[in-house]
Order: sequence, then structure tokens, then C-alpha cells
Amino acid sequence: MSDKAAIAVVGTGWWATTAHIPALIEHPRVGKTILVDRNPDAARAAAAKYNIPTALCFTSVAEAKAAHPDLQGAIIATTHHAHSPAAKDALDAGLHVLIEKPMTIYAREAKALVDLAAARGLKILMGYTFPYLPTVAQAKRYIDDGLIGDVEYVACSMSSVTYDLLLGHPEKFEPAGGYAVTGPTPATYSEPAVAGGGQGVLQVTHLAAMMFHLASGLRAETVTAFMNNLKAKVDVIDAMAVRMTTGALATLGSSGNLRPGDPGSVEVHLHGSKGRILVDGFTGEFFMHLHDGRQEHIARHSPGYPAAIPVDQFVGILLDGAEPLFPGAVDGLYTVELLDAAARSAAQGGMPVQVRDLYV
Ligand SMILES: NC(=O)c1ccc[n+]([C@@H]2O[C@H](COP(=O)([O-])OP(=O)(O)OC[C@H]3O[C@@H](n4cnc5c(N)ncnc54)[C@H](O)[C@@H]3O)[C@@H](O)[C@H]2O)c1
Repeated sequence: MSDKAAIAVVGTGWWATTAHIPALIEHPRVGKTILVDRNPDAARAAAAKYNIPTALCFTSVAEAKAAHPDLQGAIIATTHHAHSPAAKDALDAGLHVLIEKPMTIYAREAKALVDLAAARGLKILMGYTFPYLPTVAQAKRYIDDGLIGDVEYVACSMSSVTYDLLLGHPEKFEPAGGYAVTGPTPATYSEPAVAGGGQGVLQVTHLAAMMFHLASGLRAETVTAFMNNLKAKVDVIDAMAVRMTTGALATLGSSGNLRPGDPGSVEVHLHGSKGRILVDGFTGEFFMHLHDGRQEHIARHSPGYPAAIPVDQFVGILLDGAEPLFPGAVDGLYTVELLDAAARSAAQGGMPVQVRDLYV
């Protein structure tokens, strides 16, 4: 194996230019950063900002791989509707992939990627971030050690400041110092054909993935959901109820209608046969109360947002053969199944949807 990684970023818009490209440029074990965007201007703007030669800009992964056979991995950071074809192109080119959330919009697409990666011996790392936080990692250790016993019920809630994005006004979402290179386009999170949904695919995806990561063994069997778009074309308020294949039950609720300055919440509260654990990715709060009386509490604080860690983990996969902490086959696929079923249920007035029917 080479001692430096060669990685392509596919989709060089807001998030890639904010998180992934800076993390790659600064990473001591990355030797080559290649930019791929179907819009050549987007790749060139990112290249100019980060002093990447324009010779390393391409409009497809196939071209990039042909010009740079040493390419080992691709980070898929396109708009949601393009995750599936872009990740497929990268896997077809023999590349390991880091896929931004949601893995895909539809469960069948996610399953096809999982199967393709398995057939080619390639790895899929999902770009989720919250589980790297120390309090979430602590919750995971305790749950894996059996402290709360068998998970019977999970209450998940996420509230965030996404309404302007869902309405198609990214300029109102712009941070005080401006976007690093570009913001998302008005269509990125507001047009159903591009975004594949609203608060569900944008935010509940974090929540569901955190639940599946913390409570390994859970997988949705039946989902029922209601969604409210407020004034957007996509969902802004979501309420979902899930029966898992283990018999465990879960609720996932979310609002995108907070205002700047409110840290919001991304809270997973797991109840087991021996006690409960609550952990919040935005506030860092951790609380455990076991049936035997043991309690632990870490108060709300500002844990920060570990935006650069997925790149570091991906480098470990490429150079050291490390296993993904959030594999596509579990955290990616199971999350898409839940969200795909929830969207179908909401479209049918809350009728229960069987996950197995997503594959028919
Ligand atoms: N983990 C996080 O905290 C976080 C935060 C923000 C965004 N994201 C995710 O990052 C991804 C990108 O979001 P964004 O806001 O940067 O979007 P964006 O609209 O700013 O950028 C998307 C880019 O993808 C390009 N693109 C579209 N289809 C393509 C294709 N088939 N091949 C190559 N390029 C293609 C577009 O030209 C555009 O430049 C989304 O999945 C989003 O959910 C993650």
C-alpha cells in the first residue's frame, strides 16, 4: 500500500468546500486531492480556493481514474438525487467510497450499492459525524457492554435551523463570515426531485443513523409517519413510529423550524431491559439511569462539530485497511429504509409501510 492516499471529491459544492476538501488538504497522509463535479465551474472554484491545480479537476470519476490510476477512494458529496449514480460510478471504477448522508433516497438504490461494494470487495463509509463525539462514543460503549440490557424502546428527536434551506433560501442560511466558496443552490434542499425530501433526508437521517449505530441489531420492519411541509415543497416537520425486526419500538420526530442561535437537539433516548441512556449530539448531554439505581450525567456543553473526522477515518480505510465505523451496509442502508418507508407512509396519510415492500 502507498503511504499517501489519492482521493477524489465528487460534488464540490457547499459541504465539500466547507468540510471535506479542507480536511483533505490539511491531512498529512493525503498525497493527492482530485475534484470531480459535473459542473466544471464548481470544481474550478474549489480548486482556486484551495490551490489545487486545475489539471486535477474532472467532470466524471471515470475520467479522473483514467488519468490517475493511483486513485483509491471517492467522497460522494453531490446533491442527494445523485448519490446513487455517483457512488455506483466510483465503485465501478474500483474505488472505496465515503458517502454523505443520506446514502441514497430509495432503499433499493442503497441495497444495490451495498451489494456492488460487497461483490467488488470495496468499503462504504457513511459520512455521519455525531457518533464521533465523546459522549456518543461513551453511550455506545455502555450499550455494547450491556448496561441498559436489550433495547426495547427508542425516542429520537431532532430540531434544527434548516427551514430557510428547505424553502430554497440558502442566502438566509449563510454564516456570518460567508460561505468558504459557495453555498448550496436554492434547489439543493428545496426541490423534491433534487433533494429527495426535506427534513427527513437532510436531518432525521443523522438521528436514525445514530440510533442504528448505538443500538446495533435494530432494523426497521414497519414504519408509519406523518409529515408537514409548512410553506415548503418538502417536509419540515416529521413524526415517525417504527417497529423493529427485534420487536423494539421507536419514535423519531423532527422540526426544521428553529431560529439561528438555538443549538437545537439531536437526541437519542434508548430504553432497555436494564435502564436507559439519553445522548444529544448538538449539546453533548449524556444521561444514564439504570434499574439498579446507578446514574451518570454529563451536562449540556458545546461539543463542537467533528466535520473533518470522516476524511481521517476514510484515510485509515484506504491506507490501513481499517473497517468503517459507519458501514453502508448497516448505518447507510437501514437509515434509508426507515426514511424511504416513512416518506411512503406519509404520502399515504400515515398508512403503515412494510420495509420488505420497498424491495418489491
Ligand atoms: N454531514 C454534514 O453535516 C453535512 C452538512 C451539509 C451537507 N451535507 C451533505 O453534503 C452533500 C452535498 O450538499 P451541498 O450542500 O454541498 O450541495 P451543493 O448543491 O452545494 O453541491 C452539490 C454539488 O454536486 C454537484 N453534482 C450534482 N450531481 C453530480 C454528479 N452526478 N456528479 C458530480 N457532481 C454532481 C453539483 O454540481 C454541486 O456542485 C449532501 O448529501 C448533503 O446532505 C452534509
